[in-house]
Amino acid sequence: MSRSDRFLRACRKQATDATPVWIMRQAGRYLPEYRSLRSHHTFMTLCKTPELAVEVTIQPLRRFELDAAIIFSDILLPLEGMGLEVSFAEGKKPAVNPPLRTADDIHQLQSFSPEEHMPYLLEAIALARRDLRGKVPLIGFSGAPFTLASYMIDPDAGGNQLRLKSLMYREPVIFQLLLEKLTDMVIAYLNAQIAHGAQAVQVFDTWAGTLSAVDYKEFVLPHMVRLFDTLDASVPRILFAVGSSHLIRLMDRTGCDVLGVDWRLPLDESWSLAQFRPAIQGNLDPLALFGPHQYLAGRVRDVLSRVGTRRGHVFNLGHGILPSTPLDSVAFLIDLVHQSRLELGET
Ligand code: CP3
Repeated sequence: MSRSDRFLRACRKQATDATPVWIMRQAGRYLPEYRSLRSHHTFMTLCKTPELAVEVTIQPLRRFELDAAIIFSDILLPLEGMGLEVSFAEGKKPAVNPPLRTADDIHQLQSFSPEEHMPYLLEAIALARRDLRGKVPLIGFSGAPFTLASYMIDPDAGGNQLRLKSLMYREPVIFQLLLEKLTDMVIAYLNAQIAHGAQAVQVFDTWAGTLSAVDYKEFVLPHMVRLFDTLDASVPRILFAVGSSHLIRLMDRTGCDVLGVDWRLPLDESWSLAQFRPAIQGNLDPLALFGPHQYLAGRVRDVLSRVGTRRGHVFNLGHGILPSTPLDSVAFLIDLVHQSRLELGET
């Protein structure tokens, strides 16, 4: 047992020598080396140039003892392959154009081919695997159908989702068609990432928490069940959502291997809602990294003590790390996670 397989073993609820830890958005603006590279290239160029995407993927691993790498990209990029324009303008929220407005817009979406539309990403995955040389596993990812639909319909995704929910309630057949098309895309996209070397995949359902449990069950769950039924199950599949403690029982029914949860409920309470079936990933509040080390240590130990000697915990934040996060707190957090399990003894 070693650092190289801690993460994958925990995803499968197998014993590990220490709790594995990685951080959502671990490659990004809180790192000076990212900001430096980024000052010479647009975000799109970083994503679409395999050598640069791999460099950014590896940056946090040079600095910290992380137990997994996540390929550098963005959940919105495959929407280009469906015929939409995606932009990440400086200082603005990402935008998808034109926003979907009519049934016709949805009928006209093109079908996505990973090899044709995102060869740069598949190449980056293969290159990253080569550079990582088995040191730590590589995670691939996708947005979930509902979250992608949010960005396609509501420029202000995450607001009250007026347009998105209006479509859902007034034209359920069209809404279902959109989610069906997106589910097809996500399946093709993630299976291609796995075929090119991704050793685990994470599905980000960032906006699912805006739905009631009743609506999630009716409008979203059937697509998620098909997604996880069809996805290559030879690698661990993580399902992550924010503000979705009320959906945990339903998310468990998707058949995901690992459930990623935020900090709103204590980790053991979230896990018990899923009856400890999947492995669990989380769940430190990213803002805890702004507290003094002593406070941070208390929060980290609280998460770990809630896991106790159970197998199947991957330590992570409950959402992405923020750009102004102090780097020394990140290093401190990672060391603490690795040491604490040793104190508890191997399980
Ligand atoms: O985790 C990683 O290190 C891998 C890279 C990654 C990015 N985005 C890079 C990125 C991942 C996994 C994502 C996922 C993503 N993208 C999500 C789901 C996760 C979540 O945060 O809930 C969502 C909703 C997006 C859409 C997106 N992309 C937003 C809302 C933004 C702007 C907000 C922000 O953080 O700036 C982006 C841009 C983006 N994606 C950046 C990075 C590093 C910042 C780009 C820059 O350098 O200017």
